[in-house]
Amino acid sequence: MLWSNRFTLFDQLMSRITQLGSHSTDQSRRATCRSACRKQVGQVHLIGCGPGALDLLTVRAFRLIEQAEVVIYDRLVGEDILDLIPESAERYYVGKAAGQHSVTQARIGELMVEQALRGKTVLRLKGGDPAIFARMAEEIDTLNAAGIEWQIVPGITAASGCAAAAGIPLTDRASAHQVRFVTATHHASHLEHDWATLARPDQTLVFYMGLESLPDITASLQANGLPAEWPILLIENGTRDNQRNLLSTLDSVVEQAREAQFKTPSLIIVGEVTRTAKANVLALAQSLEAA
Ligand SMILES: C[S@@+](CC[C@H](N)C(=O)[O-])C[C@H]1O[C@@H](n2cnc3c(N)ncnc32)[C@H](O)[C@@H]1O
Repeated sequence: MLWSNRFTLFDQLMSRITQLGSHSTDQSRRATCRSACRKQVGQVHLIGCGPGALDLLTVRAFRLIEQAEVVIYDRLVGEDILDLIPESAERYYVGKAAGQHSVTQARIGELMVEQALRGKTVLRLKGGDPAIFARMAEEIDTLNAAGIEWQIVPGITAASGCAAAAGIPLTDRASAHQVRFVTATHHASHLEHDWATLARPDQTLVFYMGLESLPDITASLQANGLPAEWPILLIENGTRDNQRNLLSTLDSVVEQAREAQFKTPSLIIVGEVTRTAKANVLALAQSLEAA
């Protein structure tokens, strides 16, 4: 081989090595930038805080809350749970009082996105389970649209927490083949449900947000075949120190709940399974009857 050809080969080799070198430097620069950019955008945790009692919080939620940087929380998150938030954390209350929206859903979405874009880890605290009647789908859509990572931390939903606190099973193979979670927020003047399928005796119904609609619920169930003496249980502030229960029947619960001044948050459970509710529940119902 001629010397001139050898030099040409050597030059080509060197130039290829240089190219590869600069390519890998570019690649590593890009990777460093990507990871830095990722670090600059925070993540959102959609956390269920359970029905109120501190010790019904999951360990995962507890750990995240203890290290919180930014917390956006709802009305039904228990005070004891809020006390776990470090002093250093930024807090945003976005709770909605009954019938009025203090902060719009759009604003809640914006707030989560703004904070995550500041590089913060955002905890979005909700009562119960974040995926049950808690507008989680809208919040996930907003986060996806902004390209922000999110995680769900499940919580004990009011149905499970309240049923346990009242001492009843939601299903019992002798009387309830299914349990149905129903939202009872008012649309127009009447609840839009398929009452014929709800008024079946072999199931348990759990109505969320139903206190205002109690007259509508009880009338519709009776109009569709459930007997007037069918058992119904109201649980106010379930699992909290101030929990109150009322075991009654479809034809008398509206009157009794009014007399006892039941307030939100209250859960309504309808079905045979409520008959085994704890004695203190029965005592309250009896004292109301006697009054
Ligand atoms: C907007 S929904 C939120 C439900 C929540 N994501 C969950 O999984 O429990 C609010 C309704 O849940 C019910 N609820 C929540 N916590 C409750 C509690 N501690 N006692 C009674 N009802 C409760 C009430 O019916 C209340 O109106």
